Amino acid sequence: MSELYQVIYCSRNRIPGAPDTVSENIGGILARSRENNARDGVTGGLLFSDGCFAQVLEGPMEAVTAAFERIQCDERHGEIVVLQSGPIAERHFADWSMAFTGTRALGAGKVAGLGLSDTLTTRSGGGDTVLGLLRSVVVRETEWLESV
Ligand SMILES: Cc1cc2nc3c(=O)[nH]c(=O)nc-3n(C[C@H](O)[C@H](O)[C@H](O)COP(=O)(O)O)c2cc1C
Repeated sequence: MSELYQVIYCSRNRIPGAPDTVSENIGGILARSRENNARDGVTGGLLFSDGCFAQVLEGPMEAVTAAFERIQCDERHGEIVVLQSGPIAERHFADWSMAFTGTRALGAGKVAGLGLSDTLTTRSGGGDTVLGLLRSVVVRETEWLESV
């Protein structure tokens, strides 16, 4: 089996319009992502906060690279900055073709502390923070599902 590979990046939202339009667009992005990622063996998580996206993509190197190339051409976001990339020993989001969390779900305090917009401006750090935050949401959600 091909080596597992991970890319963590952040970017600035370029979807114009009111928050509702943005939410609808993100819904569309997620639906397509989940279809494509399930087909290609890609898993990961997407975070939307502070007018910015942060995403973790993981899977076979060719599949992750192909997805990231498509994502980079997408005009719904811009100023893409790679926070972290390289081989990984195991998946962090094995059960998620694309987990998602946004400002409301996380609580404003935690999101303000993340400062994705600052990360983009300074182009530094942030990969572990994004990974940790998305992981904590996924763990919480899995626990909730298991308790039903
Ligand atoms: C923030 C963001 C995250 C995205 N994440 C994914 C993803 O994980 N997987 C994916 O296939 N497409 C993702 N897309 C969509 C791609 O940019 C592209 O539109 C899509 O892969 C094209 O798929 P299609 O060739 O099946 O139409 C994302 C787009 C944005 C703006």
